[in-house]
Amino acid sequence: EKKIAIAIDGPAAAGKSTVAKIVAKKLGYIYIDTGAMYRSLTYSVLHHHIDIQNKEEVVRHLHNLSIDINKEQQVFVNNENVTDAIRSEQVTNNVSIIASIADVRKEMVQRQQKLANKRAVVMDGRDIGTHVIPDAEIKVFLIASVSERAKRRHEENTQKGFPSNLHQIKNEIEKRDKMDSEREVSPLKKAEDAIEIDTTHLSIDQVAEKILDLAISN
Ligand code: C5P
Repeated sequence: EKKIAIAIDGPAAAGKSTVAKIVAKKLGYIYIDTGAMYRSLTYSVLHHHIDIQNKEEVVRHLHNLSIDINKEQQVFVNNENVTDAIRSEQVTNNVSIIASIADVRKEMVQRQQKLANKRAVVMDGRDIGTHVIPDAEIKVFLIASVSERAKRRHEENTQKGFPSNLHQIKNEIEKRDKMDSEREVSPLKKAEDAIEIDTTHLSIDQVAEKILDLAISN
């Protein structure tokens, strides 16, 4: 059976990673969370008190940074386990600034393309179908209303016992989507040949099922 690449893009908190993990597991593929890579750099830049507006410094920092994600989706930056740290509010609120730097994207895309070149991958992000794997056999663009996405993230936080404010989450999601969609370099955008799935009224399993159907009929 032919090994393919599945690109899953879409706005913040649309359920991309949850669905991508299920699809990858069912197909025996590897899952690559590209958002975690941008988050890792953001975490490290903040941790080292580098000015996030200083693009040259940020890019230089990235060139000396190893970012590794293992099969359990634990994330390591220069061998430090940052799995939880990269989900902090501070990282979330700054990641889109770091991700808008052209030379940061250039380096990240190169690293991501190396990971995807053997196929049998499910990769999620913002520019996977448009820039990272433009020849992916399957491209999906997941959307959902902002209120629905905020509600899901809020419930997820509450379940994990994290402090959570629905209104604040909604604002953060809107702000991040705006920045990610309006940046000059590879903005969040549906690839022309991507299949859009509105998940507002679908369960996680229904979405995963739709993508698996596409993969199987490919
Ligand atoms: O997917 P996640 O929400 O973890 O991504 C965090 C941020 O990383 C996004 O808001 C975006 O600024 C950036 N990102 C990106 N391109 C990707 C993946 C993530 O610009 N392929």
